[in-house]
Amino acid sequence: MNDVQSICFPIPSQQSELYFPLYIPLCLIMALNASVLSNKTLRDYRNTIHQHNDKFIKNMPKVEMHVHIEGTMTPELRWELAQRRGESVLNINTQQPCETLSELKSTYELLNDLDAGGVDGGMQRFFKLYYGGFSVLQDEEDFYRLAMNYFRKAASMNIRYCEPFFDPQGHTRRGVPFKTMMDGFKRAQSEAVRDLGVHCQWMMCMLRDMSPESAMDHYLQALPYRDMIVGIGLDSLEVDRPPLLFEDVFLRARKDGFKITCHCDVGDKDTLRNIGQVVDQLGGSGADRIDHGLHAADDSFLLQRVKGKDLGMTICPWGYLCYSGEAQIIDRVRTLFNAGIRIAIGSDDPSYMEDIWLNNSLYLLRVLGNFTDAEFVQLQRNAVDICWASDDIKAAILKELEDF
Ligand code: HPA
Ligand code: ZN
Repeated sequence: MNDVQSICFPIPSQQSELYFPLYIPLCLIMALNASVLSNKTLRDYRNTIHQHNDKFIKNMPKVEMHVHIEGTMTPELRWELAQRRGESVLNINTQQPCETLSELKSTYELLNDLDAGGVDGGMQRFFKLYYGGFSVLQDEEDFYRLAMNYFRKAASMNIRYCEPFFDPQGHTRRGVPFKTMMDGFKRAQSEAVRDLGVHCQWMMCMLRDMSPESAMDHYLQALPYRDMIVGIGLDSLEVDRPPLLFEDVFLRARKDGFKITCHCDVGDKDTLRNIGQVVDQLGGSGADRIDHGLHAADDSFLLQRVKGKDLGMTICPWGYLCYSGEAQIIDRVRTLFNAGIRIAIGSDDPSYMEDIWLNNSLYLLRVLGNFTDAEFVQLQRNAVDICWASDDIKAAILKELEDF
């Protein structure tokens, strides 16, 4: 049942583009047109999608491909891991130890101070919070608990298979051995299949704000864990760090048989150029998938290239709404979907994005994009098609989806 009728959102109206001369690029028109959502509107959206009770979305078997395991660090888990070794957690606003769990929780409240700095400021604040959460991850047990916490949540959302990202450089640079992290993930991965029926393969991301040499060094450290890692990606702050800067690693990864993908964040000043590199050049002939890249919807040439190569895209609409604040986000998701591009929805960093997980993000498409039950099933078919699970796992999920 689509219960969109019962929701009354102040959706900003689109202005007509007909008066612009044809030679103005569509992306510029979109920029001129961009109406920005107020924090109140965002908070209304957040409350509605957080509380939803959409049985169809809840019960549908799902695949999740765009979630950063470190972005699933809830304040509760962070508190528990710090308490476990008698340490405190720093409040990023006061630089003093948090006295209580609720004080820590308050630092996660993005919408309360998003007004501060637009897209760049918002992203910088996000990364400060996100990397701040790494400090409680020190031994094998911490990584195990982090991953198990996500797998349990995934099982509760009927996620059958996932490809979480992890950021090894964010841990080794704090002195954590690569092996410690992988051992914790491996234990959780085995337990998740055995006890929860959630299958997983890992996506290792290179931090684009670190050097290409560091990326290569970590790539080599990952080779003994080939049985766990299915692909190599690129994340972190994108400003002036284009994908091709890391081409040596991507070339090598492709040669060694890994899948390759890359973040193209929404709102980055060079996003169209960067999406172009990912589509056509990365790894020699273009990546196997694109993470984000939403602005491909603004450029008919790029859109056709993505479609022509039948590239999958992982799309995380809630994060874009929060960090870009633009009203047209869902319109672009629609454009990609209606163009027949195989997009799959992800939650990105649910703990740092107002506690919005995959099911909540899907519900956002219900209320703001009028996605129907049939379209949700299509989104999950897309996800199965573009994921890198074994044929057996894909067939089992597809069968379950068709039965559903
Ligand atoms: N964008 C880029 N890098 C990231 C993100 C993100 O949203 N989350 C974790 N690393
Ligand atoms: Zn991401």
